Amino acid sequence: MQPKGLICAGGEATRLGELTRVSNKHLLPVGSWPMIYYPLQLLQLAGIRDVLLVTGKGHAGQMIDLLGDGRLAPRGGGDPILEVDLTYKVQTEPGGIAQVVGMARDFAAGAPLVVVLGDNIFEFAQSAALGEWAEDGKLARIFVKDVEDPENFGVVLYSEGGAVTDIVEKAGVVDMRFDAPPSSHAVVGLYCYPPDVFDVITRLEPSSRGELEITDVNRHYAAEGRLEAREVEGWWEDAGKHWQHLADIGRRIDETGANK
Ligand code: G1P
Repeated sequence: MQPKGLICAGGEATRLGELTRVSNKHLLPVGSWPMIYYPLQLLQLAGIRDVLLVTGKGHAGQMIDLLGDGRLAPRGGGDPILEVDLTYKVQTEPGGIAQVVGMARDFAAGAPLVVVLGDNIFEFAQSAALGEWAEDGKLARIFVKDVEDPENFGVVLYSEGGAVTDIVEKAGVVDMRFDAPPSSHAVVGLYCYPPDVFDVITRLEPSSRGELEITDVNRHYAAEGRLEAREVEGWWEDAGKHWQHLADIGRRIDETGANK
């Protein structure tokens, strides 16, 4: 069955200070595009047409004004920037990424699901790895990247044989089993799930920060031996961390391009 796509674009983005008082973080400029174009384009390049976009209550209007039905022609004409079939849902209370994924149950309707966080931007669209996963779609797949600030992410631990044995979400802040991150291998915001992901989410308990953690979903698949981890090809950025970062990523995109 052809996978469907989910973009998580909620949240209050307090880390971006004055920039997100009114505007949704995912509408801020990164290079010449609003941030949200990049994850949408990544899904399109993976051959995914049906995309659900979940956004927060105050921002759904702006998001629909910008993206409409998912067919987006550039101003002044030319080839479409995006050509997907967009569906929208509104998250009324922040409850974690796994809660947002749970909102996609009816939309997915038994299909496997590729989830992208709306602030994650990639040099390469990871199309080969996504296409290879979709051939079967029965395992969960995460993508990892070595980072200098692992405290800001979920990080992966491996067995000697290279299987994922555990994932630690923001050590000392969310996951209290560790004071500091036990590895620098961060889980990025691109996840592939088989159709039973919704049953996994139904059984989750909220974390210490009161959210349903996507890391707990991935830990479940790791414990079942059904989680594959792939290295991200090229650079990867979480654009939601700091306002200065937005300009840096824009320059990076100018130099190398994105979603190649
Ligand atoms: C989320 C996930 C974390 C992941 C990160 C990637 O964190 O909880 O595991 O490493 O996305 O961007 P957030 O940035 O929402 O705090």
